[in-house]
Amino acid sequence: MKVTVVGTGYVGLVTGACLAEIGHHVICVDQDEMKIEKLKRGISPIYEAYLEDMIFRNIQEQRLSFSIDMEAAMPGSQVVFIAVGTPSLEDGDVDLSQVEKAAREIGKHLSAYTVIVSKSTVPVGSCRRIAQIIKKNLIKEVSFDVVSNPEFLREGTAIYDTFHGDRIVFGSRSKKAVDILTELYKPLHQKILVTDPESAELIKYASNAFLATKISFINEMANLCEKTGGDIQAVAEGMGMDQRIGNKFLQAGIGFGGACFPKDVSGLLKTGEKYGYDFKIIRQTLAVNSTQKQKPLEILEKIIEDWKDIKIGILGLAFKPGTDDVREAPALYIIKELYGRGVHVKAYDPVANDNMQSVLSFPVTYCNNPYDAVSDCDAVILVTEWQEFKELSLRKIRRLMKRKIFIDGRNVFASESMKKKGFDYYPIGICCKEIMTQNLVEGEIYIDESEKSNYTGSGTWNQIFTCN
Ligand SMILES: NC(=O)c1ccc[n+]([C@@H]2O[C@H](COP(=O)([O-])OP(=O)(O)OC[C@H]3O[C@@H](n4cnc5c(N)ncnc54)[C@H](O)[C@@H]3O)[C@@H](O)[C@H]2O)c1
Repeated sequence: MKVTVVGTGYVGLVTGACLAEIGHHVICVDQDEMKIEKLKRGISPIYEAYLEDMIFRNIQEQRLSFSIDMEAAMPGSQVVFIAVGTPSLEDGDVDLSQVEKAAREIGKHLSAYTVIVSKSTVPVGSCRRIAQIIKKNLIKEVSFDVVSNPEFLREGTAIYDTFHGDRIVFGSRSKKAVDILTELYKPLHQKILVTDPESAELIKYASNAFLATKISFINEMANLCEKTGGDIQAVAEGMGMDQRIGNKFLQAGIGFGGACFPKDVSGLLKTGEKYGYDFKIIRQTLAVNSTQKQKPLEILEKIIEDWKDIKIGILGLAFKPGTDDVREAPALYIIKELYGRGVHVKAYDPVANDNMQSVLSFPVTYCNNPYDAVSDCDAVILVTEWQEFKELSLRKIRRLMKRKIFIDGRNVFASESMKKKGFDYYPIGICCKEIMTQNLVEGEIYIDESEKSNYTGSGTWNQIFTCN
């Protein structure tokens, strides 16, 4: 089939390349001329594993091309995907201006029956709105259908996810449109759920809000573990063994970020408000996440008395491993907070240094390797769990650091071993009491740091061990 994809970002570009890979003729359109120029030369403007090779191959085989011109791209397309951005507005509502603009352009250039597919994540009722805009902008009377086809790929594994998705969802009341899309996706051999557009639009928000809530839930459990002496990793393992719960999205850490979870959870909350419904659970999901992002700073506030001349190394800037995307990344928040305290921030990410540099207007020392980023630092915060960080020489890290404060925002390392290596180590959801209990000495007393001043027992201070 001939297909047009409007918007060549993380979703549009992967969709376009994968559809070309399975044999369709795809033209990807974007309003960003620089992006299109790069793409025409086979260079991917984003980092996503295997994507550039796939783009290059499909250009060579003449199934994939790029343009800034909708008028030239659309004729003959049986299917047009809308894959433009839907960022958050200031108040958390969804900014639909890119989608509306794309719909106007599509309307102007529609010349025969076409299936218009909304791949962008849009609030319930948007397909109806897209259809109205297209209709209003038609130059000549042609029929069309608008289908909601939410995207579930994850950055970092986007190509794998496209070929091995759990389901494809079509929201449409038109059999003709569903038949065309079923044919389009046939080579992927995936389960297809056909429903009405409203439900399809809600499925996407419900899925993301549910996953985000799972993360906030495990982060709250982590906070309770720290107070009670539990180990969140053991708790998560035990929970995850229950097949009704599953072990995914149970990794405690310093909160979620990215281009989807924060904005989609806010968007669903806003939808609730518009319809007079207060979605209490997801309101708390966001609140917990925003507190969780502050954890590294709370830990540092307790240890660092004077912020003057403090140097802190940040390991990982992307919102998750496998991508260069820094939108709403926890690192963004942490770096801004540190800079506000006068800290000299050094940072390293295998692929996201440039993107972070383009969004931060103040000086950060971007390093070419993790060792330079920690060198001479008072503290290190591991923010993104890239595989290469798991393979670091910790002895070298320790040697290079000035003070040995290591905040492991993703629980990459083992507490006991980090303590043994001489780090002042702070994981998430693992109380240091847990480590000490392995060497319990009779007569010693273990109390919580916050209870230290209230302690009225008879133990002398060198017998009392606190946990943070
Ligand atoms: N990024 C993800 O992991 C992911 C996953 C699932 C769903 N989604 C959803 O998919 C949509 C796209 O997300 P993204 O991350 O790819 O966004 P993005 O910001 O990376 O890409 C959007 C692209 O659309 C282009 N664009 C905007 N308006 C245009 C127009 N009128 N004509 C042509 N091009 C236009 C922009 O220049 C940009 O290149 C969003 O709704 C998002 O919520 C994203």
